[in-house]
Amino acid sequence: MTLNDVQIIQLPRFLDERGNLSFFENDKQIPFTIARTYWIYDVPGGEERGGHAYTDLQEFIVAISGSFDVVLNDGHNKKTYSLNRSYLGLYVPKLIWRHMENFSTNSLALIVSDKEYDASQYIHDYDEFKRTKRHE
Ligand code: TYD
Repeated sequence: MTLNDVQIIQLPRFLDERGNLSFFENDKQIPFTIARTYWIYDVPGGEERGGHAYTDLQEFIVAISGSFDVVLNDGHNKKTYSLNRSYLGLYVPKLIWRHMENFSTNSLALIVSDKEYDASQYIHDYDEFKRTKRHE
């Protein structure tokens, strides 16, 4: 997997005087079936989240409210994706090192994943990540 496999996905938007609506469904707007949903909120200013990769797990990240940056690294290249629209999501395949930063006040990061939580999926050590990428 490289940064070329990462995608910003524009979700459907129903613009309405009563307020707007967006959505995503399994294997339609997002390229996997959801097994887990979690969200990150009340992040104090200046804090970072993440700082790891997953061996075999995909995610889709939406800034439902506010904004934050997702910094992705495939072992060769690094790119920062600024998420600040509730109709845009970031698809992150497996084996991409990532962290999240620059959370705005009251931001809300919604993350869906194709696997249930499993601590053994995490690669926390960057050197181990680089070694894993060499054998990918
Ligand atoms: P962690 O993965 O360290 O957060 P991040 O990498 O985004 O900074 O998760 C923090 C804690 O929450 C950790 O003890 C594991 C737990 N956790 C779950 O139990 N289920 C989940 O789906 C997630 C993402 C985390």
